[in-house]
Amino acid sequence: MGSRFPHYPTRIVVVGLGRIGLPAAVNFASAGFRVSGFDVDIKKIRQLRKGHCDFHEPRLQTSLTRLQKAKRLSFSLDLEKSVRESDLATICVPTPISSGRIDLTYLLAAIDNCSKALRRGQLIVVESTVAPGICRKLVVRIERTTNLVFGRDFFFAYAPERVTPGNAIHEMKSMARIVASDDPRSLDFARRIYNRCTASVLASNFTDAELAKLAENSFRYVNIAYANELALVCEKVGADVSNVARLANSHPRVRILTAGAGVGGPCLPKDTQFLASLLKHPREHGSILWSARSVNEYMPQHIIKQAKQALKTRFKSKSTVTILGLAYKPNVDDARGSTAVEIARKLLEAGFAVKYYDPYVKVKGVGQRHTDIYSACRSADLIVIAVAHDEIVRADLERIGDAAKPGGWLFDIPRVFNESSASHAGLQYRTIGARQVKSESTEINQAPQCLRS
Ligand SMILES: NC(=O)c1ccc[n+]([C@@H]2O[C@H](COP(=O)([O-])OP(=O)(O)OC[C@H]3O[C@@H](n4cnc5c(N)ncnc54)[C@H](O)[C@@H]3O)[C@@H](O)[C@H]2O)c1
Repeated sequence: MGSRFPHYPTRIVVVGLGRIGLPAAVNFASAGFRVSGFDVDIKKIRQLRKGHCDFHEPRLQTSLTRLQKAKRLSFSLDLEKSVRESDLATICVPTPISSGRIDLTYLLAAIDNCSKALRRGQLIVVESTVAPGICRKLVVRIERTTNLVFGRDFFFAYAPERVTPGNAIHEMKSMARIVASDDPRSLDFARRIYNRCTASVLASNFTDAELAKLAENSFRYVNIAYANELALVCEKVGADVSNVARLANSHPRVRILTAGAGVGGPCLPKDTQFLASLLKHPREHGSILWSARSVNEYMPQHIIKQAKQALKTRFKSKSTVTILGLAYKPNVDDARGSTAVEIARKLLEAGFAVKYYDPYVKVKGVGQRHTDIYSACRSADLIVIAVAHDEIVRADLERIGDAAKPGGWLFDIPRVFNESSASHAGLQYRTIGARQVKSESTEINQAPQCLRS
């Protein structure tokens, strides 16, 4: 009987309370489980016990307060005790990339710490993203350290998290969840848990699920690279990438994503690299994944080149550049892998005076931070809109134009404004993937050979 899993599992410990773990803990608690959250970051646990979340995620803070009050969610500094008192542990710790390979340091530490208190009949679920083969290795490691047998004494499943920060609370409930195990009883146990807190469950084995998680993020990464390359072509031939994509996307089997300054964040580039690194000799057959990486990694350089070119046409002395938005995507307070940060840093290194405004993130070494968008734009020769945070989208362009140097440039990567509104505000306008304002003769000379008469 000791090996049977509980018929009504109710107690969950969530290990790792970051951008995925904390919303997951809230989601489990909202579904009626009694949840204990654990993190190695003691300061974070102390703050959470006081009801404070250390990052911005819509609806997270209110749910946190409600669930803590209802005593459905608590925070612990004693993982072993929490594991002993739970029916299952879910692990949401980082799995970064290091020297081109998955770095398992955090995950192995979490697994080992859970294993110390693992009882018969308990389930461990890994929600962190892993590469193919890792779940099997983790199972073997647990068996070795505990002398318990997988599928008989303890259960193990993989349920990769697929939500996007900024909409995590909603997506955790509403999206289908991949739940995987190579052991049918583990799968059954895990399905019962996720059926209670997600829209639907897609059952799988370990390897297919590990690959599916990487495949979905890589698919988006490649699609963005495609949009970016299309943007470069548009610039050459004098077309507009957003109009080209709109027209092409009217085809029922086409969905081109949006071109931009490359791809940042903690997931898409990393997951694509995990997938690409599974091929030993990718260059032998020409890898889409590696090519996508070249295109996406080129985009920040392209933006910098364009920025320098714009400044050359008008300003001779040291120019001031204002960057609006530094996070890796709109409305998140996360600058991990942000291409806007890369652009700001490179412009600073190139000798420009750089200022920035971002309502969510503070970043060191990228220039002077301003907490007001208009003071950030004061006397700027070039304003680069890098991220379309709501605060930037809602900004008064006339006031930005008044603050900037007369005749200054607006380089609007996410196309928050347009050429006519910029011109009305006294700014010259540039974006990516569109015909740049140049003399007739330059345009003809720069058209591809096949198009020249
Ligand atoms: N952030 C995303 O957009 C996203 C989306 C889907 C999947 N994921 C995956 O989810 C996993 C977690 O990512 P995240 O963005 O939440 O990371 P994060 O850095 O925001 O949070 C991770 C948390 O784990 C804690 N931690 C580290 N080692 C620990 C340990 N041994 N025991 C307990 N806590 C520990 C850290 O202190 C931190 O609070 C990663 O594998 C990531 O690839 C992330």
